[in-house]
Amino acid sequence: MAVQILVEKKKLDKSPLSIHKLGDRVLRQPAKRVNKVDDELRQTVVQMLQTMYTADGVGLAAPQVGINKQLIVIDSEPENPAIPPLILINPEVKNCGKVLAKDQEGCLSVPGVYMHVERPETVEISYKDENGRPCHLKTDGFLARIIQHEMDHLSGVLFVDRIDDSLTLTAELKKHGLSIQAVQPVSSGVS
Ligand code: CO
Repeated sequence: MAVQILVEKKKLDKSPLSIHKLGDRVLRQPAKRVNKVDDELRQTVVQMLQTMYTADGVGLAAPQVGINKQLIVIDSEPENPAIPPLILINPEVKNCGKVLAKDQEGCLSVPGVYMHVERPETVEISYKDENGRPCHLKTDGFLARIIQHEMDHLSGVLFVDRIDDSLTLTAELKKHGLSIQAVQPVSSGVS
């Protein structure tokens, strides 16, 4: 029988999990595939959702809370209680659109820094849901951007690694007490 994960979209006084920041090594480790979707994993999902809502985020990947698993929670509409969050387990990109789009991104692991990143406008993925059922999703726009940003986390990549303008990036990071030394540029703008 399918289990539904119900988490109220609100801020808690205390975040159940703490979020690692740029420079922390856990953010750079490739995440391992989830073998079993069970109650223990669903409990982690609940805590990740609570942590994401408390931090005002629209997405959170398990490595950001020090969990080395291919697990992501996303909510592109955190203000809308009628829309359930998206839970991605072992997500794989099946196809990327050829058209690129540039838009602003931020990251709970790079607090305060918002910069434009170029990514494919459309993405098609397969994944397992919170009941271990295989799913398929093709989407574009804001949701496609969040999915790609979060999936980068599973490979140890952060959005700041994808910014070519290192001068502005250095200044932005410095302004928020972060160091450019922790950035690991990816070769091309898009992987
Ligand atoms: Co992020």
